Amino acid sequence: MSLYIGLMSGTSVDAIDAALVNFSDDHSPELLHAQATPFPEELRASILTIIQEPSCANLDMLGALDIALGHAYADAVKALLETAEVEASEIVAIGNHGQTVRHQPDSELPFSTQLGDASIIAEHTSIATVADFRSRDLAAGGQGAPLVPAFHQALFDTGESRVVLNIGGIANITVLGQRDEGGEALITGVDTGPGNTLLDAACQHYLEENYDANGDHARQGTVIAPLFKALSSDDYFSRSGPKSTGREHFNLHWLNDHLREHDDIEAVDLLATLSELTAWSIAESIRNKAPDTQRVMVCGGGIHNTDLIQRIQSRLDCLVVSTEQHGLHPDWVEATAFAWLAKRCIDRQPGNLPSVTGAIGPRILGAIYPA
Ligand SMILES: Nc1ncnc2c1ncn2[C@@H]1O[C@H](COP(=O)(O)OP(=O)(O)O)[C@@H](O)[C@H]1O
Ligand SMILES: [Mg+2]
Repeated sequence: MSLYIGLMSGTSVDAIDAALVNFSDDHSPELLHAQATPFPEELRASILTIIQEPSCANLDMLGALDIALGHAYADAVKALLETAEVEASEIVAIGNHGQTVRHQPDSELPFSTQLGDASIIAEHTSIATVADFRSRDLAAGGQGAPLVPAFHQALFDTGESRVVLNIGGIANITVLGQRDEGGEALITGVDTGPGNTLLDAACQHYLEENYDANGDHARQGTVIAPLFKALSSDDYFSRSGPKSTGREHFNLHWLNDHLREHDDIEAVDLLATLSELTAWSIAESIRNKAPDTQRVMVCGGGIHNTDLIQRIQSRLDCLVVSTEQHGLHPDWVEATAFAWLAKRCIDRQPGNLPSVTGAIGPRILGAIYPA
């Protein structure tokens, strides 16, 4: 057994996903156990305050949140070990993505900030912890994101032209099966733009629901064509990449700026328009980056939004399937990826793909906090 734990909590700020993975067979990781621990309400509120009102964040808030998150991640690991009936001493390392509170890869001094103190995790679990995965790629001139494509390649690349689509708060694609002029495998990938984030923001603001379960509200609405046109003209969508984005760009402020010119909108029509925008931006990225794709393999919470998935499928000619059909449940792909990235760091192997992030070369990602 070669056991690692991956921890992921994304821009949706819904839960800490934890995955216990066996990497004895390098080519086919075995997901032994996985569970999601929802954030305690108070912690979730603090995270959202810092993300949504960064100018109100002060050093004391940031310091305290870093520690509180460290404890929450450590608790998630302990809960996973208990369910799985595995001892901490059997785990080689934890890979913790951390909670992104700010991602500014295109600023003059590019950075990406993830909170969740790794010393606290190592101390309270007695397991070596790998954290801070994005900084080294940024230091090498990359976007620091997306980082999951190297894992998608390791797991899902068969040579067929296919796309792995992760619909978290932000959506990202990995394009597999392409070759460069020299005939070498060429993996590309981008953040396509919003995944669930705009849908969630509108749902929370207008309907006081965390998300549009199964897309049932959006399905009842009608797309508002002028609003769709205005939203889809955002410059991010026409940029070619490497590119990555976050909630600092696609958020309620961004939406409200556009809504000012559109009075009296019904919530269901707004959700239908946002679902269409999300589907369009994903499908356009796939058509541009992977015109020959045979198959889109979907993971992330957005797969449960059947309205969104139907809109994506209706804009593409190829198959749209769950990663589950290819051996990994869609809810645990990202957490499994961070277990894999931890192993890459421990094994001194690169974790980024320069063709995806724009970094000047492959780099070993992460910092190790010994047990
Ligand atoms: N049954 C469902 N119907 C619609 N959307 C869902 C459902 N379950 C999860 N989601 C969406 O998935 C999101 C969480 O996805 P996740 O992959 O965890 O994103 P992140 O990586 O940003 O945390 C939720 O905020 C919600 O928008
Ligand atoms: Mg999540």
